[in-house]
Amino acid sequence: MGERLAVVSGGGTGIGAATAEALAVDGFDVLVVGRREETLRATTARLSWDLARPGAVRAVVADLTDPQQVPRVVEAVEGRAVDAVVNNAGGYLGGEAETLVGIAEQWRANLEANVLTAVLLTEALRPALRRPGGRVILVSSIAAQRGGGGPYSAAKAALHGWAYDLAVRLGPEQITVNVVSPGYVADTEFFGGRMTPEGHARRVADTLVGRAGTPDDIAAAVRYLAGPSAGYVTGQVLGVNGGSVLGR
Ligand SMILES: NC(=O)c1ccc[n+]([C@@H]2O[C@H](COP(=O)([O-])OP(=O)(O)OC[C@H]3O[C@@H](n4cnc5c(N)ncnc54)[C@H](OP(=O)(O)O)[C@@H]3O)[C@@H](O)[C@H]2O)c1
Repeated sequence: MGERLAVVSGGGTGIGAATAEALAVDGFDVLVVGRREETLRATTARLSWDLARPGAVRAVVADLTDPQQVPRVVEAVEGRAVDAVVNNAGGYLGGEAETLVGIAEQWRANLEANVLTAVLLTEALRPALRRPGGRVILVSSIAAQRGGGGPYSAAKAALHGWAYDLAVRLGPEQITVNVVSPGYVADTEFFGGRMTPEGHARRVADTLVGRAGTPDDIAAAVRYLAGPSAGYVTGQVLGVNGGSVLGR
């Protein structure tokens, strides 16, 4: 058993899976949370094999928009202190928005997927966070800082305001709260079938470094914020976007 424990939502795929791997390499035991059991199991099996640390990464199947399912994560913690909660679950939910009913559905879906997942998971684990030293990390998006995603942009921006509030509340307990805001990251399930060669090229051209981000680029930022050297960093938004948005 590792000395530290992390919970990574959306840890079965993309940025979350890369984050789970980075934290496990650093010696964390990691609980990866998502809705698809098979996807989670494939990731835990791969990581346990690669890291030769059986049981270091375990799966918890839960829809984090559902208050009835979130306690499954608390049960899986088994009374241990939680060193880091990485709220990475989320995504862009499109849908029909021609009518007010459709607009309401689309906004609710984006707010639930990106905000409620983080709020419910963090609130459920708040009593278990290590004091002092716990870390809460929220994964937002460049869309929060420059728009472009409609209700998705608004939902991710909501995480920033909530992070500031939480940082103030948890600071006296020596728990830090920070946001990692990724730019364009290829090779995840995020875009599904939506990405075109032109869309890819446009996003790459938007960066100063001339390439798409990788899940490992984002995982590296989370790893830093989850680690012991980031104890004096709280209430911050760290953009990891190849320079697509400057200093916001
Ligand atoms: N890729 C990009 O360019 C990009 C850019 C900026 C920000 N981001 C953000 O980065 C985060 C990770 O995205 P990604 O690119 O790695 O895409 P991804 O592969 O689609 O990852 C999203 C993960 O969230 C999980 N998830 C979604 N809703 C959930 C729910 N209700 N309960 C539990 N788990 C849920 C999904 O698993 P299940 O479907 O199995 O539940 C999936 O593993 C997201 O918050 C996304 O908005 C991505």
